[in-house]
Amino acid sequence: MSDLVNIPQHIAIVMDGNGRWASKRLLPHNAGHRAGAQNLRTLSEAVEKLGVAHLTVYALSTENWSRPEKEVQGLIKLMHEYFQQYIDDSKKNNMRMSFIGDISRFEPDLQQKIETLRTLTRNKTGLHVTLAINYGGRDELVRAARKLAQDAANGTVDPAHINEEALVRRLDGFPTPYPDLLIRTGGEKRISNFLLWQLAYAEMYFSDVLFPDFGVKDLQAALDWYGGRSRRFGGR
Ligand code: FPP
Repeated sequence: MSDLVNIPQHIAIVMDGNGRWASKRLLPHNAGHRAGAQNLRTLSEAVEKLGVAHLTVYALSTENWSRPEKEVQGLIKLMHEYFQQYIDDSKKNNMRMSFIGDISRFEPDLQQKIETLRTLTRNKTGLHVTLAINYGGRDELVRAARKLAQDAANGTVDPAHINEEALVRRLDGFPTPYPDLLIRTGGEKRISNFLLWQLAYAEMYFSDVLFPDFGVKDLQAALDWYGGRSRRFGGR
């Protein structure tokens, strides 16, 4: 598909623009999320073929609960359907599925599906897809700080020796390497509380294309752009 030599090991995507995609077609907001979820399946296959090892996508943020009840319920229903499909596909599919975010907020049967998917795909060797659900970067850091405080209180961690590694080990996605490339679709140019710690040195690519329309050609354009970046990680 590509003659790129500099392929990111880990791509993160803020899948924005589903609502506008639906409005343009006079459809309800959830039709946009549904089209987005379908597009995620297509993009995952393309990403895997390109040789990328990890893909992390923002599917539901800690802030999204404040959206209209109907939209939130629609997103949860979509997760039920898609997780079931991913479970059914796991026999023939080689994808590994992980989750970041505070899963405990979801109803038990959705939590059960998440656990099943995690367990069924644990030893898969294909693309590693991480879904961020009820995820917020600040919330993740607060939960990691809480775990550290608990470990300090019970004596397993010496506060004098708390360093970056001690915190990182308590982040949700540990030990997945940090994203090399963040793609945000839908025209906005911000992080929106996504992977605040992990994106410290990521290259950022912003596209005006609405997520359901963000196809393999758009992905290719992002990777071409990434291929031309020189990453210095704060050095010279
Ligand atoms: C932002 O678009 C997108 C979301 C809040 C949710 C993204 C979710 C999906 C693509 C579905 C993933 C589902 C599964 C099952 C993995 P927006 O609604 O804010 O768009 P707008 O800015 O145009 O209104």
